Amino acid sequence: MYNYIYQTVPGFFMLLYLVYAQECNITVHDHLSEKIKTANCSKRGFRGVPQTLPRDITVLDLSGNKIRRISNYSFENYSLLHNLSLAKNTLHIMEEHAFYGLTRLKFLNMADNILNLKYVYNEEIFLPLQNLINLDIRRNIPSQPTVDLYHYPDQAFTVLKKLEFLALDIAPNPIFGIGFQGLKNLKSLTFEFCFLKYLRGCTFENFSSNLDELKLSRCHLNFLEVEKNALVPFPKITKIHFEESCMHLKQALNILSPYNGKTIEILNLRGLNCPIFNNNEYPFSLKVTAGMMRYLKTVCVETLDLSDNGIVDFEENSLLSFDRPECLKHLYFKGNRFAFAYGRHMDELKTFFNKSVALKTFDYSYIPVRYKLYANDYRQYYGKDYHVSNNVIYLPRSLEKLVLGNVV
Ligand SMILES: *[C@@H]1O[C@H](CO)[C@@H](O)[C@H](O)[C@H]1NC(C)=O
Ligand SMILES: *[C@@H]1O[C@H](CO)[C@@H](O)[C@H](O)[C@H]1NC(C)=O
Ligand SMILES: *[C@@H]1O[C@H](CO)[C@@H](O)[C@H](O)[C@H]1NC(C)=O
Ligand SMILES: *[C@@H]1O[C@H](CO)[C@@H](O)[C@H](O)[C@H]1NC(C)=O
Ligand SMILES: *[C@@H]1O[C@H](CO)[C@@H](O)[C@H](O)[C@H]1NC(C)=O
Ligand SMILES: *[C@@H]1O[C@H](CO)[C@@H](O)[C@H](O)[C@H]1NC(C)=O
Ligand SMILES: *[C@@H]1O[C@H](CO)[C@@H](O)[C@H](O)[C@H]1NC(C)=O
Repeated sequence: MYNYIYQTVPGFFMLLYLVYAQECNITVHDHLSEKIKTANCSKRGFRGVPQTLPRDITVLDLSGNKIRRISNYSFENYSLLHNLSLAKNTLHIMEEHAFYGLTRLKFLNMADNILNLKYVYNEEIFLPLQNLINLDIRRNIPSQPTVDLYHYPDQAFTVLKKLEFLALDIAPNPIFGIGFQGLKNLKSLTFEFCFLKYLRGCTFENFSSNLDELKLSRCHLNFLEVEKNALVPFPKITKIHFEESCMHLKQALNILSPYNGKTIEILNLRGLNCPIFNNNEYPFSLKVTAGMMRYLKTVCVETLDLSDNGIVDFEENSLLSFDRPECLKHLYFKGNRFAFAYGRHMDELKTFFNKSVALKTFDYSYIPVRYKLYANDYRQYYGKDYHVSNNVIYLPRSLEKLVLGNVV
């Protein structure tokens, strides 16, 4: 209806636009000797791309409007744009020449729309965007796709040779075809929303092997089955975010073999257990074994988050046994259920502290151990323990934050 008016009676469209849309705020400032001219049209009720803005704008914020379609040549008169946000509209159609003229664009944000990855990404759509660095199209699939198998429009993406950052949704059983090999400069890959069920050895095989950061968090709608070689395509990763994905800590630890002996800055494995885990293979209450730790043990890891994983105990030389403990800076064990109650656990902790010379954070809070026996009596519990060990813990000199609170 709207497009009909736009195409046939432009004058009437202008009237509509004046009635429904307030003017945009235009500001100019210098940034690193570059002139930034911003048109902020955020939340003004626009139903199409406004055409009366200054032609030399470099930043255009159209987020939070009511734009449903990007028509051909919508931006042809804004060829200096390097930042464009169309986030939080109701976009569901992009015409073939929607981005015509945007050869300087570096940042494109279309998050929080309803662009269906399967149908709306025409092979030509991104052709003008040869300088795009950052593309955000996450949170566009509103609910779990009914068909698992999902072919991503790889031929549309393949022209984005300079892309470094990509954020998008991931379907239950995604297929990232050969076109993704074109994204040779991709450094950071974020998936959100996540409906993933199968993470296979071939899932990421067509992405750049230079990837530095992978975010695959909050995949908690399905049990996520992970093949052992899932991360083999990414040998250079230094930041891994799997938090709140139902993949189970056992599987997450089992795919770290590509990083044997390497450095990982962030390994976020917080909350990988879900109420659906209750079998022997993937128990809800987990005892960490040396076998599970065999890859992680060798990694020089700086920030490690193992919070909320239902860990009730750990074997000798497992959880606290690292080949390079001097790498560890921040360690989080929050919300598990294991104790340093017995001699051996306490001894391992002491040895660990002696060796982790760079440790700044050790977070072992909210651990409901022995709730029935020592209900809420933190001092009694720890007092007893120290008494049994009859010993003193030497904390690393580097330690800035020791959180032992809420141990009940
Ligand atoms: C737009 O600019 C006007 C005048 O500078 C200012 O009062 C107003 O708060 C701005 N609106 C927004 C949404 O930033
Ligand atoms: C536009 O204004 C909104 C507030 O109305 C602000 O949140 C947003 O960051 C601004 N966009 C840009 C690109 O400055
Ligand atoms: C947009 O351009 C394409 C390619 O030229 C054309 O097929 C399509 O009909 C155009 N869309 C409209 C609404 O004119
Ligand atoms: C861009 O500007 C030219 C010249 O003023 C005009 O003919 C054309 O319609 C404009 N494009 C759009 C999409 O409004
Ligand atoms: C352009 O967008 C990116 C990503 O949203 C942002 O970090 C950057 O500050 C923006 N630049 C300008 C000049 O608004
Ligand atoms: C990756 O590309 C190859 C061609 O080089 C293709 O055979 C394969 O199926 C692609 N992988 C996926 C998961 O689509
Ligand atoms: C830890 O270091 C302290 C002081 O250097 C030493 O007395 C203690 O024996 C060490 N403990 C362990 C378990 O290595």
